[in-house]
Amino acid sequence: MVSNLATRHEGDDFYASLKARADEIEGRYRELSPISARLSEEAKAFEPGGYTRDAVRRKPYTLYIEKGEGSVLTDSDGRRIVDMWFNSTALPLGHGDPRVVAVVNAQVAKGTAFFARTESEIELARIICDRLPSAERVRFANSGSEAVMLALRIARGFTERDLVIKFEGCYHGSYDDVLWSVGPPKEKFGPAESPTPVAATAGLPAGLGRTLVLPFNDLSALERAMASHRDELAGVIMEPMANRMGLIVPSQEFLEGARRLCDDHGAVLIFDEVIAFRLGFHGAQGFVGVDPDLTAMGKVIGGGFPVGAIAGREEVMSVTDPDRVGRVAHFGTFNANPVTMAAGKATMEALTPDVFEHLNARGAGVRRRLEELCDGLPLRITGAGSLFKVNATSHEITDYRSSLTRDAAWERIASLALLNEGFMLTSGLHGTIGTSTTDGQLDAFLSAFEAVIRS
Ligand SMILES: Cc1ncc(COP(=O)(O)O)c(C=O)c1O
Repeated sequence: MVSNLATRHEGDDFYASLKARADEIEGRYRELSPISARLSEEAKAFEPGGYTRDAVRRKPYTLYIEKGEGSVLTDSDGRRIVDMWFNSTALPLGHGDPRVVAVVNAQVAKGTAFFARTESEIELARIICDRLPSAERVRFANSGSEAVMLALRIARGFTERDLVIKFEGCYHGSYDDVLWSVGPPKEKFGPAESPTPVAATAGLPAGLGRTLVLPFNDLSALERAMASHRDELAGVIMEPMANRMGLIVPSQEFLEGARRLCDDHGAVLIFDEVIAFRLGFHGAQGFVGVDPDLTAMGKVIGGGFPVGAIAGREEVMSVTDPDRVGRVAHFGTFNANPVTMAAGKATMEALTPDVFEHLNARGAGVRRRLEELCDGLPLRITGAGSLFKVNATSHEITDYRSSLTRDAAWERIASLALLNEGFMLTSGLHGTIGTSTTDGQLDAFLSAFEAVIRS
């Protein structure tokens, strides 16, 4: 059955047949979501272009959601949709998990934030230090972007150097110093071994001298760059699983090489585990077996509430100690607010080693079943743990440039077609499962996916 399909849809023809139906699929989307369409128009009167969060943007418009229960969203038009991205992976237990709701309600009744501290902050910090192999001290923030910002400030404060290395195609949030070469166009990105830093947004200060961009997964390029910037380098920031590129875990050689090079050069190795933390009970660093000096976290550890955290070795983190002369400062009205701390603690406690094992085994099962459906087609399944991505390419993806072989338009239309069938993934077909995702929902998703690739 699948091989007939493969013969029919070799190469570009395969992508063309779904893309030819783009208007019909978009028309159906509009039919199914008139209230979201109206709200999207209304929003434009108050928010530029009608948006306040670029990542959720979808063409022709993004759905408005009324509520989420477990793995099911209800949109403003009353349609029920299976959530397969859970606010960018932030809700491993799904929406409204009773254990989280109970502690959050109790905390809201007691007060939501104080100009002082609460014991809950120590409790969540203790859990993070117990689980993350490299974490001895923690500081909380309100988003992954803030965590990344503080991690870079700590690296610079600790080393008293300026330059930071990031990798082409990696997204680390909304902080200026990492908004370089996040998704640069081919005509601007320069040579593969020494990419030209390309601003990911207008409005960046002249930052070229402070952030060096290198190819992901290329140890020799990293070796060369570190040798030529010996005494300038504060740190290297990397995703141990690069999300936007296609949930790509770099080679062990690259990860271990980066660790060794940072040690040799006295630079701070920073893992951005804002998404990758959910790879296992001991975070992504436990999953790949390499310890960074600092880890930036967010999403999962806040149990669905705004959160960020920076954890790391005591020696490095101690530059933020308020008693230290020449310290690295860190502020934030809502840092470690007790509602987030309570939700985060309840979520982390629910994510036991057994739960991670089960979730990851089910994730592997979904990837395997997707691979079977895509056998012989120009579609590749990537991902790890409880995460997966369908890539419209027949090439192996190892870095940003190989990820550009994807037919992004096909992915976007396939994602919209799946949304019409009641399954919400990203526009780039990233998906994840949570503990609330049922086997029935997964079976239904796989049938809907099969119907999309057959159309
Ligand atoms: C790898 C990575 N780092 C940092 C961030 C920024 O986190 P936040 O959106 O909480 O600021 C994100 C957000 O998706 C991310 O995926």
